[in-house]
Amino acid sequence: MRLDKLLANMGYGSRKEVKVLLKQKAVTVDGEVVKDSAMHVDPEKQNVSVFGERVEYIEFIYVMMNKPPGVISATEDRYDQTVIDLLDPYVQHFQPFPVGRLDKDTEGLLLITNDGNLAHNLLSPKKHVPKWYYAKIDGVVTVADIEAFAQGVTLDDGYHTKPGELKIIVSGEESEIELMIQEGKFHQVKRMFESVGKTVTYLKRLSMGPLELDEELALGDYRELTKEELTSLLER
Ligand code: URA
Repeated sequence: MRLDKLLANMGYGSRKEVKVLLKQKAVTVDGEVVKDSAMHVDPEKQNVSVFGERVEYIEFIYVMMNKPPGVISATEDRYDQTVIDLLDPYVQHFQPFPVGRLDKDTEGLLLITNDGNLAHNLLSPKKHVPKWYYAKIDGVVTVADIEAFAQGVTLDDGYHTKPGELKIIVSGEESEIELMIQEGKFHQVKRMFESVGKTVTYLKRLSMGPLELDEELALGDYRELTKEELTSLLER
């Protein structure tokens, strides 16, 4: 890979800015100062450093965000801020995208990556990746709802969902629940509750497969996945 491409990809600026770094003798390859931006390097085998700091080449980026309400799960939108707009330029540089969608008003776990294979594996309906949600419900959630969801319910468009696991945390005029679904149909959690005559008033995703929301993340914050989290996702 060309040296200027490697450095630009790793967030050291545009190719023009990288040229300036090279001119400043800030870049070394295996300890030797290099000024030629077109030089070919193998970042896995050679030690490329900028101002003495080794450049670690990564192809894929994996970020967990605690999605805030009011932001769209898309790479661009004409009217609203997107989750990608919340990322810093270094992360944006990898051209990541959200893995699946959360509604504009939904909060919680959103994986953002540029790894298309991983995204495909997590989203494929054949893989039945379980997703847990926490919700507040306008209405009394009952054991009959647990049983209905366990059988799968029929949505407004006639689709019969796969079984969902419903846990009641608080049952009252405003109930609190956790629900596991294995699919990702449009507005699925909200529509499942509609099918039993109840309304979701607050929705937050807690997990996706083995990946759990880091509750330390404030709304709108994000962090790269740990090695353990990434391994658990890739090994699925
Ligand atoms: N189900 C919904 O209704 N909305 C979401 O954002 C996610 C799942």
